[in-house]
Order: sequence, then structure tokens, then C-alpha cells
Amino acid sequence: MHQYLQLNGITKTYGDFTALKKVDLTIEKGEFVTFLGPSGSGKTTTLMIIAGFEKATAGDVLVEGKSLSGLAPHERNIGIVFQNYALFPHKTAVENVYFPLQMRGVRRGEGLKKADEMLALVGLGGFGKRYPKELSGGQQQRVALARALVFEPSLLLLDEPLGALDKNLREQMQIEIKRIQRALGVTTIFVTHDQSEAMSMSDRIVVFEKGEIQQAATPLEIYHKPQTRFVAGFIGESNLVPARIGDAAANQAESTALGICDYAPTESAVTDGQDVTLLIRPEHIRLSRNPIEGRKNVRMQVETIVNYGDNALVIGKVGDLQMRVRVLGADVVIIKEGEECCISWQPEAVFVVPR
Ligand SMILES: Nc1ncnc2c1ncn2[C@@H]1O[C@H](COP(=O)(O)OP(=O)(O)OP(=O)(O)O)[C@@H](O)[C@H]1O
Ligand SMILES: [Mg+2]
Repeated sequence: MHQYLQLNGITKTYGDFTALKKVDLTIEKGEFVTFLGPSGSGKTTTLMIIAGFEKATAGDVLVEGKSLSGLAPHERNIGIVFQNYALFPHKTAVENVYFPLQMRGVRRGEGLKKADEMLALVGLGGFGKRYPKELSGGQQQRVALARALVFEPSLLLLDEPLGALDKNLREQMQIEIKRIQRALGVTTIFVTHDQSEAMSMSDRIVVFEKGEIQQAATPLEIYHKPQTRFVAGFIGESNLVPARIGDAAANQAESTALGICDYAPTESAVTDGQDVTLLIRPEHIRLSRNPIEGRKNVRMQVETIVNYGDNALVIGKVGDLQMRVRVLGADVVIIKEGEECCISWQPEAVFVVPR
């Protein structure tokens, strides 16, 4: 593994609006990186700058140490699939896939053969002669993917390519894209709004907010060690509890609502008296009638129970603080809306969010 793609201080302004602020990021060869973030956070703008469709106001994009500035999009050897990146309607599937090869001067016979092989790779062997209107949405998406891959790009950029698909097809395509990406070893940046998609597909997730990278880390790190309050709140379900470090040496914080709270040893430096946010995931909290020994217990007034079949979400109040608890289906029958219960957790469930 080595540094393959490097974004150095990419800034993009439109008039007096700053869409990207000094974005730094390094991606390794063969990595599958997902950009995740709210609408308008700068994901597409970053892809457009990498692809060469937009020019950065400041900063540089390097591939294997060489700047891409001065190279037109078609000179960058990048495969691109956008959400509504339409196929040519008057060309068959195989002609669509052949197109980028044709642009690169590959002869028809050889090019069509390659296009056929690529269609087979995306699971569309035998569909080459169909026109786009004779294919389902997912099949069209796969043709677009084949078209982006057929010229063996060194980098693949996928901007919400599955947005238009229904849930089942979407899951099928997620698996398909991962399989093809692994088989070809192509470095990939995938943009999505969908955090479970990001979690399941990525080697690394880059969380964008307001034109800045909040955190770039593995899915598990993003989930278990969010470095900012934004990431802690954006990824997964969370209880974010305002607190103050009481005794840093003893890993103890004080929260108005929860009282003294032991937390998991933290890698970030915190000092006594510092205001922090504690993250407690709903699935790490237990619900019971009576306090459980050896755990931190507080009383919760249950307000809402949402049943999902195999599990339920219990929402309640501890003082003024709203808490969410995930329980397995069978556990929830012990409690009803409007009742009081005990919620409890272990210190390891309490993570100090550094920023
Ligand atoms: N040509 C433009 N002129 C002015 N502002 C723009 C232009 N293009 C993008 N922006 C702004 O830059 C910001 C980032 O846009 P971008 O398309 O990168 O967001 P995104 O993260 O891809 O969002 P989404 O998830 O909605 O696709 C937005 O606030 C957008 O309005
Ligand atoms: Mg976008």
C-alpha cells in the first residue's frame, strides 16, 4: 500500500461562499473510500475537482506525487459514475460501454470484445444488444459502471450511483460494486448520504461538514471513536450528554442529568473542569425494573416505545435529558410508556468526544 491520491489544501470558493476549506486527504492505492456528509457539505465539489470538471481556488490534487493541474478530464484516466449520469439512449449497452474506448482510439473489434467482457463482469452477459430503455434501472446503472471501468481507470469516482434504486436493488448493487472493485483493485471514491451503505462498503469513511473534513477513519473508528461532536451525532444513533471532567486521573466526569459518570479511558488529553460531550450508544444501555449491581444506574421516565420487531427503541427522560435505549424485542415487554424504569451501563460504554 502506498500513497496514491493526495489532496493538498483544496479550497473552493464561489464568490464570497466557501464550498471547501483547505481539504487535505491521502488515499492509498486500491482503497475504497466513502465520502459521507449532509447535503451541501462539499462531497460532489471535491469529486469534480479531482475529475477536473472544476478548478480549485487553491490547493492541488496529486496522483502518485504528480500534480493533475493542467490535465483535462479525459487526460486523467478517471472513471466516473454520477447519480443521473445517463447512458446514450440511441446506443446499445455494448456500444455505450465501448464509447470511452472509441474515444481513446481503440479499434472497434477489440473494443467491442472488451466491452462484452466488462458487461459480463457486472453481471450483464447477454444483455449487450439491448437499448437502455429495454433495461431496468439497476441494469442501466451497471452499464454505466461498466462504461466507467472498461478503460481500466486508475481511479473510480462514484457520486451517489445507487440513489435512484429501490432498497433490494441497492443492496444487490452494493455487493456488486464491492466485488468488482476488489477484483480490479481500482482505487475508488464513493459518495453517499446513506451511512449504513458507507459502513458496510468502505475501507475508510471521510465525513464532510460545511466544506471541511471532520474525520477520516475506518468505519469502526468512526463509529466507536468519533473525534468531533458532529461525527458522534451524525453516525449511528447516539446519546450526547453535556458534562464536565471531574477527575481526569480517575476517568470521571460530572453531568447535570446523570451525576458522576465513569468513562472509558480516553486517548485525547482532557483536564479537570473541561467541558466535554459524552457519547453513549443506545445499544450499550440496559433497561431494567431495578438497579443492576456493578453498573451505573439512573432512573428514566419512559415516554415512547418504538417497536421494530426484533428490537425496540425506548425514548425517555432522565431529568431534562432525553435518552434513547435500544433493547432486544423480548426485553421491552417489561416496561410500558409512562412508567419509570432503570437504565444502566458500564464505564466502557461512555466515550469522551474530544471536540
Ligand atoms: N456553481 C456553484 N455556484 C455556487 N455555489 C455552488 C456551486 N456548486 C456548488 N455550490 C455550493 O457548494 C456547496 C457544496 O456543494 P456540493 O455539491 O459539493 O455538496 P454535496 O456535499 O455534494 O451535497 P449533496 O449531498 O446535496 O449532493 C453547496 O452549498 C452548494 O450550494
Ligand atoms: Mg453531491
